[in-house]
Amino acid sequence: MGPTARKVSLTGIKPTGEPHLGNYIGAIVPALELANTYESVYFIADYHALTTIRDRDLLRHYTRSVAATWLAAGLDPDRTTFYRQSDITETFELTWVLSCVSAKGLMNRAHAYKAARDRNREAGKEDLDAGVNMGLFNYPVLMAVDILIMDADVVPVGRDQLQHVEYAADIAGAFNSVYGDRFKFKVPAPVVPPEDSAHTLPGTDGRKMSKSYDNTIPLFAPEASLRKVIRRIPTDSVPVEAPKDPDSAAVFTLLERFGGDDVVADTRARLLAGGMGWGEVKAQLTDALIARFGPMRERYEALMAPGSELDDLLVHGADKARKQTRPVLERVRDAIGIA
Ligand code: TRP
Repeated sequence: MGPTARKVSLTGIKPTGEPHLGNYIGAIVPALELANTYESVYFIADYHALTTIRDRDLLRHYTRSVAATWLAAGLDPDRTTFYRQSDITETFELTWVLSCVSAKGLMNRAHAYKAARDRNREAGKEDLDAGVNMGLFNYPVLMAVDILIMDADVVPVGRDQLQHVEYAADIAGAFNSVYGDRFKFKVPAPVVPPEDSAHTLPGTDGRKMSKSYDNTIPLFAPEASLRKVIRRIPTDSVPVEAPKDPDSAAVFTLLERFGGDDVVADTRARLLAGGMGWGEVKAQLTDALIARFGPMRERYEALMAPGSELDDLLVHGADKARKQTRPVLERVRDAIGIA
């Protein structure tokens, strides 16, 4: 395949928390599926996390944890270019260049920035920019660079990131309209998983599982704490003997996703008939998760161990990525008159 024939799927994963089941179903699985048909470029957006995470040990931990999760989930580093954003120094030089063709008004309208101002307004603060750092404000430009510098065709993201991918397309257009006779960025398109039951998982409160709702189930928590998280999932107080509607409870919906067909069918029948309590369903769900994610957890823990091959894999991925980013930056510098 020639350089223009390859189609690239790219996404960045911000290391701001422990990976949970919702990440796995909503982001990791769909992106790994795209890796079967596209040339895939997946990276850990550690410099994006810096807009909120100020604890060095925590940033390190989340960065390794997110990387280990993707590898444990089946990302093949020989096939996917997999790296840490911060290792690609070209990204930060291009961020300045693209800042200079990005309209400030576009950034004023970015959802995350507007939400921060809304929170200040609601809190009665006079300065609506209170607590907003320039990293948060410039976030969409850095993200546009992540995408454009790798020549991405499609960007699998959650609905909340749609605007950012549209901004990347806008910024590509802005650069192309000035310098397009010398160098053109490819204009990327977002790919958003449908909000259907195959791609969305209910959290412990029945709403979509999301860190911002604080309703997540961790992917690799130790068994005892996983049991505790699941035991705490609220359920109705219908007595054990009484018939229950299986579809009214997040625990059952989750069991349907991760339990074996026999267990699910049997549990549905027993709930409808009465005589089965939610506590037993919770135990089944915990067992199902432990069985399903056990082998993945072993791989995750091995990768998380200090001195594992994780760090080398990321360095190697960065070398591969820079084969793409270095010539792009050279061509941009030439196009703008800096070379
Ligand atoms: N902003 C994305 C998020 O919070 C992470 C991200 C950074 C990203 N750079 C990217 C996603 C480039 C897709 C493409 O989830």
